[in-house]
Amino acid sequence: MKVCCIGAGYVGGPTCAVMALKCPDITITLVDKSAERIAQWNSEKLPIYEPGLDEVVKKCRNVNLFFSTDIATAIKEADLIFISVNTPTKTCGSGKGRAADLKYVESAARMIAEIAQSNKIVVEKSTVPVRAAESIMHILRANQKPGIHYDILSNPEFLAEGTAINDLLNADRVLIGGEETPEGHQAVEKLSWIYEHWIPKKNILTTNTWSSELSKLAANAFLAQRISSINSLSAVCEATGADVSEVARAVGLDSRIGSKFLQASVGFGGSCFQKDILNLIYICENLNLPEVAAYWQQVIDMNDYQKRRFSQKIIESLFNTVSDKRIAILGFAFKKNTGDTRETAAITVCQTLLEEGAKLDIYDPKVEPEQIIDDLTHPSVTESPENVKKAVQIHSDPYSAVRATHALVLCTEWDEFVDLDYKRIYQSMMKPAYIFDGRKILDHERLQQIGFHVQTIGKKYQRAGLLRSWGIVPQL
Ligand code: NAD
Ligand code: UDX
Repeated sequence: MKVCCIGAGYVGGPTCAVMALKCPDITITLVDKSAERIAQWNSEKLPIYEPGLDEVVKKCRNVNLFFSTDIATAIKEADLIFISVNTPTKTCGSGKGRAADLKYVESAARMIAEIAQSNKIVVEKSTVPVRAAESIMHILRANQKPGIHYDILSNPEFLAEGTAINDLLNADRVLIGGEETPEGHQAVEKLSWIYEHWIPKKNILTTNTWSSELSKLAANAFLAQRISSINSLSAVCEATGADVSEVARAVGLDSRIGSKFLQASVGFGGSCFQKDILNLIYICENLNLPEVAAYWQQVIDMNDYQKRRFSQKIIESLFNTVSDKRIAILGFAFKKNTGDTRETAAITVCQTLLEEGAKLDIYDPKVEPEQIIDDLTHPSVTESPENVKKAVQIHSDPYSAVRATHALVLCTEWDEFVDLDYKRIYQSMMKPAYIFDGRKILDHERLQQIGFHVQTIGKKYQRAGLLRSWGIVPQL
């Protein structure tokens, strides 16, 4: 069997690499319209950072896994084609800021219709609105050449960045939606056969196409909802003396609720949660279900509130002004183990601090400096990119980032931040020295003993100075 995947991004890349690793009898060609991206996939430095990905790519590249810009040949030769292109939120026209923009999916479908000379199974791997498969089918069938048959399947991807290889190797489930016809069932069987190379058949779930498309949006909405729920309670904790970690533990030990995705934070980021919930809200509005739309809107509103609340806490703690103060930002990626910054909470935090006149010293182990500058000078973030460039310095080492700063703000939970030498950091910072832990990963008691003023999410600490004034002297 020959497989082609259109879109060599965060999903297409790892998915095809694992498929190639597990299916030596299948040839997989990953194509993209970006020549730069394909050149990177063919180079020593892959375009995305994902633990374990390098090893898998090195094993399979030019054996049964090929990266190419020759989209036409790959489509022509393939029996099965994954569409794994981006589906961002629309930025203009009707549905702006909410609906998914399907222009890349449509252009992939049009290319297939134009080029195909034999039967194809076309698989929607991108996350799309419910009934998107219908539009793809419409484009393909309207341009159908005699004797060519198309089957359309929905096969949404559930991998998370930073753990993509493990998620793909040990998927909780693989979901395949298809048409309820004999041809549809046969197409589902063919795709299922690929996954059966490494996923137990009982974990391969087949549904109708629309259930499959909606399940993807639903899964992301549920996951994000849990984070917004615990983040809402983090505000209650800070106001009452409860500790959100203790609350999350107590709640999560109920086996009906479970303990995962209850980590309170500065707010969720990433390319999927916000985009997919907005998409769900837009669908509900169009289906004249305003109450359902309003329900899911709250998940996003709470996330925005959390990002604002954390940023505001920093300013208030620093005597209500950060103008001309140097602030170190540790971590810029939307989560650890990825270099991806799409919708990262760090952007909101930096944007707020920059608007208040702060100077930022930013360090992230995997995000490219140009990416940070691009994000912070984007027109949606600032009207004066030149001022931002003057106020931001990117560092290649955390100790240089924190030197002579008034505060350290931790935005990403990178493991290496836990083991930094905080005594050394304290000595190099301005006093009083503040730490704002947006991820709850540091040892706050110890930091207070060193002399830091510590603020975090979902737990209120007395100021170290206040403790001293009460005669409680922190011990080193
Ligand atoms: P991405 O932006 O990293 O990659 C998409 C790639 O598609 C880009 O390299 C782009 O150049 C290419 N492309 C666009 N149109 C093309 C065309 N017509 N021909 C050839 N190449 C084209 O996006 P991603 O993060 O991989 O996401 C892809 C899809 O998967 C989205 O629908 C997303 O919602 C979904 N998804 C993403 C994740 C994730 O963690 N990133 C997880 C699950 C699902
Ligand atoms: C998510 C879904 O998990 C995945 O199934 C889907 O395919 C794509 O979208 P991703 O965005 O890559 O994956 O990462 P995820 O681990 O879900 O984290 C998303 C955001 O939520 C991150 O900013 C993360 O830090 C945050 N998060 C996660 C929390 O704040 N608390 C948690 O308990 C879990």
